[in-house]
Amino acid sequence: MQLVELKNNTMETSQEQNVVTPMLRIGDKAPIFKAVTTQGDINFPEDYKDEWVILFSHPADFTPVCTSEFMTFANLEDKFDKANCKLVGLSIDGLYSHIAWLRTIKEKIKFNGMKNIEVKFSLIEDISMEVAKKYGMIQPGESKTQAVRAVFFIDPKGIIRAFIYYPLSLGRNFDEIYRALIAMQTSDKFSVATPADWNPGDDVIVSPAGSCGVAEERMTSTDDLKCEDWFFCTKPLSKDEVLDKILKKTKLLHE
Ligand code: BEZ
Repeated sequence: MQLVELKNNTMETSQEQNVVTPMLRIGDKAPIFKAVTTQGDINFPEDYKDEWVILFSHPADFTPVCTSEFMTFANLEDKFDKANCKLVGLSIDGLYSHIAWLRTIKEKIKFNGMKNIEVKFSLIEDISMEVAKKYGMIQPGESKTQAVRAVFFIDPKGIIRAFIYYPLSLGRNFDEIYRALIAMQTSDKFSVATPADWNPGDDVIVSPAGSCGVAEERMTSTDDLKCEDWFFCTKPLSKDEVLDKILKKTKLLHE
C-alpha cells in the first residue's frame, strides 16, 4: 500500500516502508529534537544558537568507509570550528556502540597518514530512528535500516541552507563540504554569489542587474567590475578579506 499524505508539499511517500518521511528543503527551519550523544545530551538546534552546524549521518559504526570519514572529519574539526561551525554526527546505533567505535578508531586505526584520532564532536545515538526520519536520512531504496550519508548545513538562525546526500558506498569529500560552508558564509557577509569551483581569493559574482539602467551601467563601468555581459559580472574579493570576516580571530600570544 502506498501512503499518500501531502501537507504543504512537505511530505513524500515511500511504498516500501509505509512511512511518511519529511522532505526537507533549503530554507526550512531545521527540525528540533533532543538526543543523547557521545558528548552528553543535546537540544537541537537551540544549543547551537549563533553557530553554523553540519549535521551529518553515516550508515553504521565499525564500518570502513564511515571510519575513514570520521577520522577525516575529526582531523578537520578545528578548521570548521574557526569558521564558527560545529560538527554533529548521527547513526542508527546505540551510545555504547558509538563509544566503543570511537575508542577503537583512536587506539587502532591508521588512515591517510592519520592515527590516534580522537573524535571530539557529538555523535548522536538514534536507535529509534527518530532524528534520522525527521531529516529524511533513511532512504529505503538505499537501506531501510541504515542512514545514508547525509550532510545538512544549518545556519546560525537554525535554517537549512544546503544539503547533500551520498549513497552508502561513497565516502564524502570534506574539502568540498568546507568549501561550501565558506562560500555560503561569504555570500552572507559580502552579498555576492560564488561561481563554479569558487575558493577564497577567486572573483565573486555580483547580483544580476535588476533594471535596464543598471545593465547599461554595468557594461560601461570603469571600476573593478568585470562583465562578460550585462547579466554576468564578477569582481575581485581577496582571500584575506574573506578569511578576515569569516574566521574567528585567534588570540595573539602577547595579548
Ligand atoms: C562503510 O562505511 O564501509 C559502509 C557502510 C554501509 C554500507 C557500505 C559500506
